[in-house]
Amino acid sequence: MQWTNQFYKNQFLFLKSSVENIPTAYFEREAQKITEQVGRPFETVLELGAGMGNIANQLALLGKEVMAIELVKELTEHAKKYCDEKMTIICGDFYTINIEQQFDLLIYLDGFGVGNDENQLRLLKRIYNWLSDDGYALIDIYEPNYWRHVYKEEMRPTEYTKIIRQYGFDEENSRMLDTWWHMEEKNDKYTQSLACYTAEEIYDMCQQANLEIVTYYPNGAMNFKTWTYCDIAPLHHCISYRIKVRKK
Ligand SMILES: C[S@@+](CC[C@H](N)C(=O)[O-])C[C@H]1O[C@@H](n2cnc3c(N)ncnc32)[C@H](O)[C@@H]1O
Repeated sequence: MQWTNQFYKNQFLFLKSSVENIPTAYFEREAQKITEQVGRPFETVLELGAGMGNIANQLALLGKEVMAIELVKELTEHAKKYCDEKMTIICGDFYTINIEQQFDLLIYLDGFGVGNDENQLRLLKRIYNWLSDDGYALIDIYEPNYWRHVYKEEMRPTEYTKIIRQYGFDEENSRMLDTWWHMEEKNDKYTQSLACYTAEEIYDMCQQANLEIVTYYPNGAMNFKTWTYCDIAPLHHCISYRIKVRKK
């Protein structure tokens, strides 16, 4: 997991100049989707791996009491500058941080899978402890089948920067690989490597953590033949799917 701080810090620095170009409407829709997926009133939220804090911020603007945990100092500094002051942003590691409170909702969007299976299970057990008895967690899980088929696809994450991103797949360990570099600095490459799990595999892992999956929500997929993106793809063909879990 040593790559995490360096990768996410550099990803942020690569994208920093273009973040203003992401329309707020996107984050509003994501926050709306989360409230629909929870499907009942909730007050308190814990977000793990909150990045720039945009979604946590939208939930705070909807009146939720939000605590956001993020590993990278530069990201938390950015979030503190731009996010609603009612939101609590903590720079810390979700594997070691001590939080006594329990929450109605825990979210971990786009990022589950940084360590090995043992680390994932440890985190799921921590998630169990952070949930109130009738709380829900929404967690995005990378789908191996999609990643296997996008091996070596290359793209520019935004037209506003000179950054290239290339996808890969580590078949032996079932991990998606996502390598970023600046066009003019080809020797400085940064890779994130996240474990992918099928719906069945994550179901078994959640069971071991005493968590029950109550719904699977497939996210989107990119068709690299036509360069078109669809918002919801079939469960075994999506980039990632979201699981809704509660205590067993
Ligand atoms: C792929 S990004 C997703 C960011 C955000 N959730 C989003 O959807 O835009 C994953 C985030 O998790 C953070 N992260 C990774 N490992 C972490 C850890 N052990 N503790 C806290 N945050 C971590 C990274 O720094 C990064 O900002």
